[in-house]
Amino acid sequence: MEEISLEINENNYEVRTMTMGDITIRFRAFENLIYVKHPVDLEHQKLNLYIPEAYYEGKTINGYTGKTVPIFFPNASGAYASGPADHPGLNFRLWGRGKPNGIFFALAAGYVVAAPGSRGRTVQDQYGNFIGCAPAPIVDLKAAVRYLRHNKDRIPGNTNCIISNGTSAGGALSALLGTSGNSSEYEPYLERLGAAEERDDVFAASCYTPIMDLEHADMAYEWMFHGVNHYELHITKSINGELRESFVPGDMTQEQIRQSDYLVAQFATYINSLGLKNEKDQVLTLAPDGTGSFLDYVTSFVISAAQTALKENIDLSKIHWITIKDGTITSLDLAKHAQYATRMKQLPAFDHWDLSSPENELFGTANCQFQHFTQYGQIHSTAGGTLCDPHMVSLMNPLTFAKGDRSQVSPHWRIRFGTLDRDTSMAISVILATTLRQAGFDVDYSMPWGIPHAGDYDMDKLFAWIDSICK
Ligand code: DHB
Repeated sequence: MEEISLEINENNYEVRTMTMGDITIRFRAFENLIYVKHPVDLEHQKLNLYIPEAYYEGKTINGYTGKTVPIFFPNASGAYASGPADHPGLNFRLWGRGKPNGIFFALAAGYVVAAPGSRGRTVQDQYGNFIGCAPAPIVDLKAAVRYLRHNKDRIPGNTNCIISNGTSAGGALSALLGTSGNSSEYEPYLERLGAAEERDDVFAASCYTPIMDLEHADMAYEWMFHGVNHYELHITKSINGELRESFVPGDMTQEQIRQSDYLVAQFATYINSLGLKNEKDQVLTLAPDGTGSFLDYVTSFVISAAQTALKENIDLSKIHWITIKDGTITSLDLAKHAQYATRMKQLPAFDHWDLSSPENELFGTANCQFQHFTQYGQIHSTAGGTLCDPHMVSLMNPLTFAKGDRSQVSPHWRIRFGTLDRDTSMAISVILATTLRQAGFDVDYSMPWGIPHAGDYDMDKLFAWIDSICK
């Protein structure tokens, strides 16, 4: 195929007006911009770029000019499948269905929006090779960032102020984009695709419920849900293009309950190896039974969430495992909170012994669709599964780079994990936030009370945060 130009044609756009609720936006749409010279997946290796028309009229919005306005960069990846180059309109995800999406609100707030598509685990080429497995999703997002920089003089928007955003698998990719800026470890993949020779670091990363640190996610899940032996598997299916969800209940077997003890102890060893500290500089540790200062630290975020809920007049008086004295929460039992939240995944939560998880597919190869990504998973394999190259697994983990010693890490972070989210352990986002804070980065981390697995539910607050770091 002919080499694709990486230069945006500034004259190839449509002016659109869109109204949702009582908000009307007017913008220029540059769509289907292929962001690499040698694409292997024309459906996903492209981005849509939307620019408020006001900037072409020399106006300012919220104090921003066409030169200074931040570029909001929301990826649409979910479950490690491909993400489409999205557009302003209704949210297509289960958790946001029926509401205007983040792109619409971001344009209404005056931001430039660059919505990248990216390959995911199920994509095959014409020969049947899997071309969206690790590290393809992050390589594509990096290529899209480079494309924006390559075109910085052709379009409004400040490429020094790119704000990545994503939820779940997309939250993990946003975090990875944030930590792995300009890392040479992705260079061979970017070069092969003909990505622009530009920087790929971003100024800030917004991450809702990042499903990450997959090497340790099974342990972390058992630490969180230890003793909760009933589960409700969440099944999503696409029926005639529409996502449907159902829950299949089940009970852990005696063997799974026994293995849970083992994984809790493994998680303690992992936490103790990290050297994490709280804000008072005290080291956070766990005993083999999962108790200790790290448990207290995670609990402190849930207490803050409950305290905020209390301030917002949410009635917590019937929750017997929270102690409230004179309007202040003095203690909260996290194990009982896990019972209350309920368990969604059985053991092991991620590296399934029968290779049936989305993550098993993410870590497949061109001609081996599913693999294990932990030694623990491989030892117990019931499917004769092979183990993914550990370097490949590390290329998908934001923590590989979060200390800032081998890449350009975003200076600013906003991380959210709802207290009723059961898709991964609370511990995971706490580890990410804490590692980044200790490395000296600016981290805004909190757990909103009562929020399940979801993202983009507080766009006003997200935009206020963007303005606080960009102005
Ligand atoms: C997502 C959810 C999961 O439970 C998971 O294991 C991976 C990704 C998601 O919603 O993107």
